[in-house]
Amino acid sequence: MLKTNKKYHSVLKQLFNQKKIFIFDAFGTLFKTSSFETELEKLVGSKSFDLIALWRRKQLEYTWLYNQMQQYIPFDEITKLALEFSMRHHKIEDEMVRNLLLPIYDCSNLIEGTLEALSFLKKEGKTVVILSNGTPTMLQNGIEANGITHFIDHFFSVDSLQIYKPHPSVYQMALDELKVGFADCLFFSSNQWDVAGASTFGLDSVWVNQYGEVKENLPYGRVWEIEGLKVLV
Ligand code: 2OP
Repeated sequence: MLKTNKKYHSVLKQLFNQKKIFIFDAFGTLFKTSSFETELEKLVGSKSFDLIALWRRKQLEYTWLYNQMQQYIPFDEITKLALEFSMRHHKIEDEMVRNLLLPIYDCSNLIEGTLEALSFLKKEGKTVVILSNGTPTMLQNGIEANGITHFIDHFFSVDSLQIYKPHPSVYQMALDELKVGFADCLFFSSNQWDVAGASTFGLDSVWVNQYGEVKENLPYGRVWEIEGLKVLV
């Protein structure tokens, strides 16, 4: 992985010019996984940050465990179960907390810079694709609510495979559906486990390090790092 500097940006520019199909992870990359911070703090006080963090962690952990057990339930169910556990862990019983938080995934808000990046890619004639663990309904709702329908050429949900990322068959599904090979595609995710999965599968990948994270010790293929989607523009 290279550092973000001027020379690096020109390498990225070359890569963007070469690639035709830009495949994005959804949650955490395009869509927010946290909202209503002020309202939540009013309900649970200082536990709010830890509650949100544990919820996301458990949600992902459950997807990986379900994969290991060769079991599947849809991502909205997983999200609910993970929230219930996280509330139980923090001894929070207030139904208002549940009702406030669940819509974050049912109808997510865009992360800053997403709209500009998507509109730029469409102007450049790129094909824009979402590949997500989210159910088709979650993705459709997020796309429609944020008015980005005309920027998204395709969205693919793991729901048709009933296996979660980072299983290689999910990334393969995107290539199969698009009828393209590795050479045309560039995959983007802010989730490092997702970047590890896509890049070891063989997709050139971009780690959107918009939360300033430290690099994980995971196996990676060809990966470039950017500090946010605004770098595309
Ligand atoms: C996704 O959208 C889980 O954030 C991950 O696939």
